[in-house]
Amino acid sequence: MGESFPMKSGDDSHSYSKNSLYQKLASDTVKEMIQESVIKYLDTDKVTSSMGSTTIALADFGCSIGPNTFLAVQNLIQPLQTKNLEFQVFFNDHFSNDFNTLLTSLPPERPYHAAAVGGSFYGRLFPRNSLTIAYSSQSLHWLSKPPQGVNNEAGIHGSGAPEPVARAYSAQFEADLGCFLDARAEEIVSGGLMFLVMPATPDGLTQTELSALFDFYGYSLMDLADKVLCSLKLQTFYFRKHILFKNRNYFHFDPLLKIKKFYFRKHLFSLNVQGVVEKSRIEEFNLPIHIPRLGEMREVIEKNGCFRIERMELTNPKSKVAGPLDAANVVTHMRSAMEGVFAAHFGASVADQMFDNVVPMTPRIADCFKALHHISNQLFVVLTRK
Ligand SMILES: C[S@@+](CC[C@H](N)C(=O)[O-])C[C@H]1O[C@@H](n2cnc3c(N)ncnc32)[C@H](O)[C@@H]1O
Repeated sequence: MGESFPMKSGDDSHSYSKNSLYQKLASDTVKEMIQESVIKYLDTDKVTSSMGSTTIALADFGCSIGPNTFLAVQNLIQPLQTKNLEFQVFFNDHFSNDFNTLLTSLPPERPYHAAAVGGSFYGRLFPRNSLTIAYSSQSLHWLSKPPQGVNNEAGIHGSGAPEPVARAYSAQFEADLGCFLDARAEEIVSGGLMFLVMPATPDGLTQTELSALFDFYGYSLMDLADKVLCSLKLQTFYFRKHILFKNRNYFHFDPLLKIKKFYFRKHLFSLNVQGVVEKSRIEEFNLPIHIPRLGEMREVIEKNGCFRIERMELTNPKSKVAGPLDAANVVTHMRSAMEGVFAAHFGASVADQMFDNVVPMTPRIADCFKALHHISNQLFVVLTRK
């Protein structure tokens, strides 16, 4: 179901496992709030007796390859460890996720049984009433697909986009989150808990650091398109100068001119093969990511009706680091999460050039980050299954 763009696999220096500190920062920020909520809202006696088992089943939806998921799971289990319970943890992500890296890096001394569950979290993944705690961090902003049939020529995402584009993104998000909640409502036992942590924007605002970065990805792509144009112009110039001009005395009679023209066109064609990005390809492209507003999130949860909202607030993980986010570091980090989606549309070579091209824009990105530093941009939600 839907498209999948896994985080960079393996554990080398470009992998998600080595480039997910900002995602970790977001979940670290809500660490204590999660532990308090487990103690406050989970009635383990009630849940275990209704399930007829002393096993607490937890699932992390969109776990990627670690290590953040292991820390999150440990955090969820810790407040329950004094009780006489067993824990079964399910690590969920798309089938294309690097589950080998995930499973081979499981903490050796873990207080739980572990299993990987492949498949989209926008559909059912578990039997009815089989889960006690569901958790998802930094994953639900990934849509099942970009909004269809929108004309978003001026941008590559929906934050701050013209009204019809923004509305189409919201509609896709509502449909996807609706599917997620419907599926979890079946799987989570009554009294069970759900924790959601994800990027969001305060009501009335449209821009966060993440959406600003997406704007720069768009500029970088347009820049590449212009570079191509430039290079085409240079080639034309070269052709005129070295072929036509050289032959100016017998321009109309040069028997090789046709062949030269053929090779000239062929050379242009080979430029195309080597990483030309056409403006139309950029215009067609929309990131399958939506950064919802707080109110938007509340509306979808209330419309679903199966969960009680125990806690819902925006946090500002950036307040944990001194000064604004380090733009250069964010640019490098985000590549491991975002490369797949660009490579799928534009090809690996263009995606590579696009990310390289963002690096010189870092001072401008840093200015944006500075201006947005005070904005709380991470949503924390605690729900109980009614
Ligand atoms: C940025 S990573 C977050 C990983 C981890 N939760 C963390 O906090 O570091 C987002 C993950 O969500 C997964 N994901 C996105 N859409 C999904 C879907 N529909 N079903 C399952 N996993 C999905 C991606 O494959 C990716 O591994």
